[in-house]
Amino acid sequence: MVTSSSTVAIGSWRLEPSVWFVLRSVCIELEPVEAVGATMNGDRMTPDRIAAAGNALASAKTVFVVTGAGISAESGIPTFRGAGGLWEGFRAEELATPAAFEASPERVWRWYLWRREQYHACPPNVGHWALRSLSLSGRQCLIATQNVDGLHRHVGHGDDELVELHGCIEKMHCTRCGRRASLPPVASSPPGELPTCRECGGLMRPHVLWFGESYWDGVLERAAAFAQHADVCLVVGTSAQVWPPIQLALFAQQQGATLIDINPEPTELSNRADIYLRARGGEALSALLEAAGVPLSMPEPEAAG
Ligand code: APR
Repeated sequence: MVTSSSTVAIGSWRLEPSVWFVLRSVCIELEPVEAVGATMNGDRMTPDRIAAAGNALASAKTVFVVTGAGISAESGIPTFRGAGGLWEGFRAEELATPAAFEASPERVWRWYLWRREQYHACPPNVGHWALRSLSLSGRQCLIATQNVDGLHRHVGHGDDELVELHGCIEKMHCTRCGRRASLPPVASSPPGELPTCRECGGLMRPHVLWFGESYWDGVLERAAAFAQHADVCLVVGTSAQVWPPIQLALFAQQQGATLIDINPEPTELSNRADIYLRARGGEALSALLEAAGVPLSMPEPEAAG
């Protein structure tokens, strides 16, 4: 984790100067969401939009994908914002900040282990499988996810196709030496004692990016390097409230990608997208694959998950 004084703050998030330099060119004023809603209310996935998005995808060799909590909503995982969202029942600053961990590592660990247990009961949904099918279709794909639930991994995306921008709930890292490790299997949690580093004895913490922290070294750079050459950029299920992932999408668009936003509720990004599909992730992605002539491959319902 880099926390140099030369980092650039965007809200409560920080970027290293090199990445900020690349991305700041797309740091533009987005339209307020009310204005977007006014023009898009009533529109859903019109056939012409699906056809246009399908055409773009059919001819794309390189696809950059940004996902947010919405893609996992159909798996039963609550989103963060809005009615029923995680941040409605919990205060982020009391749980997802370095100060919260310092004040009570036990409390923070309990919350993450509780969330992890919930995630284990939630299988990937058709949206995850559609993205996997896309990468199996011969196109080069990179998924930059804001989610820590690991569901993209569950369907088979490896490190070469995945950037976990905000970390992963299955991992932890040492607060002293930074060493990363996997959490023990769910059955053995919650741990009787707080986990410590095998190498240096330091306290381990969830490998999740908290509010006010810098992105880990190389994470945004890797995503931006791929985004730069993308033919299509798909954004699925994010409220566009956290800037760096959205800037990656806008950067891809600025560099020539067709930007397709999928969300049942319009966000500030929707109006900037070349094509906005107002629908749930699973519904829109399966329609998109069909329009692009990409077969959807997923296990039979009883075997799913
Ligand atoms: N399909 C697609 N999108 C959906 C669906 C669905 N079935 N259901 C809800 N959504 C949309 C909502 O309309 C909303 O715009 O998903 C979005 C979820 O927004 P957030 O809860 O804000 O999640 P996200 O954008 O991923 O949050 C970004 O904020 O709290 C931090 O670190 C946390 O990674 C998270 C980041």
